Amino acid sequence: MTNVTRDFFIGLSNNHFLNAQAKKWGFVLGADKFVAGTTVQSVVEAVKSLNEKGISCTLDNLGEFVSDKQEATEAKNQIIHILEAIHSQQLDCHLSVKLTQLGLDIDQSYCIENMKEILDTAAAYNIFVNIDMEDYTHYEQTLEVLEVLRERYDNVGTVIQSYLYRAQEDMDKLKDVRIRLVKGAYKEGEDVAYPNKQDIDLNFIRLAKQRLLGNTFTSIATHDHHIIEELKTFVAENAISTDVFEFQMLYGFRNDMQDKLAEEGYNFCTYIPFGDDWFGYFMRRLAERPQNLNLVMKDALYT
Ligand code: FDA
Repeated sequence: MTNVTRDFFIGLSNNHFLNAQAKKWGFVLGADKFVAGTTVQSVVEAVKSLNEKGISCTLDNLGEFVSDKQEATEAKNQIIHILEAIHSQQLDCHLSVKLTQLGLDIDQSYCIENMKEILDTAAAYNIFVNIDMEDYTHYEQTLEVLEVLRERYDNVGTVIQSYLYRAQEDMDKLKDVRIRLVKGAYKEGEDVAYPNKQDIDLNFIRLAKQRLLGNTFTSIATHDHHIIEELKTFVAENAISTDVFEFQMLYGFRNDMQDKLAEEGYNFCTYIPFGDDWFGYFMRRLAERPQNLNLVMKDALYT
């Protein structure tokens, strides 16, 4: 994909007007391929069918750019409702949250209070909560919030993005924290992030290998089969226990490979987004891969 096309979709993903409008449209443009419905019940069914195949899940109640407290409180209540469902239905599932959905842009301490309520419930049910990493303008704040929360909770972690020059430094600081390693989905400047895909991939592999040699659990989140193959070889050569890591992929992507990795005996976790606030998430997926666009266009033409 050219940088122009990528920038176009990333630009759309950040468009507040379109994000707000899309909530009223329902799923259009083939978004239902990548988003597992709008209700808790629909997502519970999706989790159950993956759990039956030995795949665990992480649920993301879609939403970002929240600028009023009522909306942030509703999101927090919905997330607690999901935790209740995970517990009562005994799902093999944890949570992923975005701090901007929980009020980070309104007031950091308010966001922390929302997170504490979520983590109290999650801790009571022994459920892990991962804080997704958003764009670089929220990076420092996200790490600050995590630091405050870690003083009280050990069931919370976050994401390291290998496109950032500072990924190594932050990963070192989080050596005792469960993290998810990703390449990074946002458009960042060359002052903070590698502009070149090869550097991002090499950094990803380097960081993943370091984490695999440690004892803290790591989620290796990529659809890149070259990287997955290299890490599988590394794990075998170094006799690394499969208990210290899992592979993660997004719902609707490379389903055959997801099943195969689980069948091969690796811990595998599918990231399942759901809810009506799908637009920003979906546009970032289109930005990542032209084939996602082809898939969607075929649907639009033939169904
Ligand atoms: P990438 O797009 O680099 O593709 C590499 C190669 O893999 C391709 O050339 C192709 O050969 C193959 N490939 C990739 N996708 C394929 C497909 N669908 N079908 C066939 N081949 C394919 N980002 C972020 O900034 N913050 C976050 O919190 C998260 N969270 C997150 C969770 C999970 C579970 C995942 C998988 C990803 C994220 N991301 C994220 C997104 C991440 O940063 C990144 O943008 C995407 O995963 C795309 O990078 P990949 O490494 O998957 O493959």
